[in-house]
Amino acid sequence: MASEILRREQTDKSTTQPQLEQGMHPSFLNVLIQKKSIKEKTAGIKHRIGVYSAKGGVGKTTVAVNLAYALSEMGLSVGLLDADIDCPNVTFFMGINTVIPQDYPLKPVVKDGIKVMSTALFIEDKEKPIMWRGPMKGKMLREFFENTSWGDLDYIIIDLPPGTSDTPLSLMQLLDLDGILLVTTPQSIAAKNAIRSGYMAKRMNIHLFGVVETMSGNSPAGALHVSKVLNTDLLGTIKYDEKFNECSDIGKVPFLTEKHIHDAFEDIAKKLSSLGKKTSS
Ligand SMILES: Nc1ncnc2c1ncn2[C@@H]1O[C@H](COP(=O)(O)OP(=O)(O)OP(=O)(O)O)[C@@H](O)[C@H]1O
Ligand SMILES: [Mg+2]
Repeated sequence: MASEILRREQTDKSTTQPQLEQGMHPSFLNVLIQKKSIKEKTAGIKHRIGVYSAKGGVGKTTVAVNLAYALSEMGLSVGLLDADIDCPNVTFFMGINTVIPQDYPLKPVVKDGIKVMSTALFIEDKEKPIMWRGPMKGKMLREFFENTSWGDLDYIIIDLPPGTSDTPLSLMQLLDLDGILLVTTPQSIAAKNAIRSGYMAKRMNIHLFGVVETMSGNSPAGALHVSKVLNTDLLGTIKYDEKFNECSDIGKVPFLTEKHIHDAFEDIAKKLSSLGKKTSS
């Protein structure tokens, strides 16, 4: 897989020579060229939403997957991109074991009406580690937008990896995101990292749709603090529930089987779909 991506990169470079304008740094020009190309290739996607926190393990993938199901149930066409390139989990959560060929354009796997793309789909042994440095992850991310046949979609939900560099940074730079949904938990370390993540989005001029608290207890005080500091909304709280772990262990999506989880995500999806694209404040 890695060698094929590099070969395509070489071919692309030889056919699209960047034209430097006076005073423009070459790397900045490259970003503009890539951004334009991604915009053209994903013209059929109406809304692009990132699910993000710089902190690991707070429930980003859980929120991304269940939210995708909730939007799909509303009659919307939905894609789900696992942007956690080297540690992909979406396919585990959805019980997808398929291996797809690396034929271009890449074709997402459709499960329960949702179009899914993930690095995990190219790997037979799903527990095999993917050990790539940043530039390689960046190239794979671009393949997912420039060379993947998403077709027409109302929404693409993007499950981001933790951290504030590499993939999250490339995604915020290159993709014309409608906005980001921040995920946090009741822990103050999660809140601090959600705030850090929100500041990153603001610095990249990306709108914040709001905050979702997962693994919640009785009061979402942490998430309220995050939303206050970032001047955004608390979009929903998802209670701590062992059902999430039981379901993810066997690749079942709790939105489909647990009424209270279904209703919580339905509420978030409705709020999200009623919010238009705004610029960051
Ligand atoms: N509301 C909840 N109640 C109980 N467990 C939950 C809840 N939400 C998520 N979990 C569990 O927390 C763990 C981490 O969730 P998840 O993988 O979605 O986090 P993540 O932020 O995507 O992690 P990573 O940063 O590694 O990508 C999983 O085992 C998941 O089942
Ligand atoms: Mg994850």
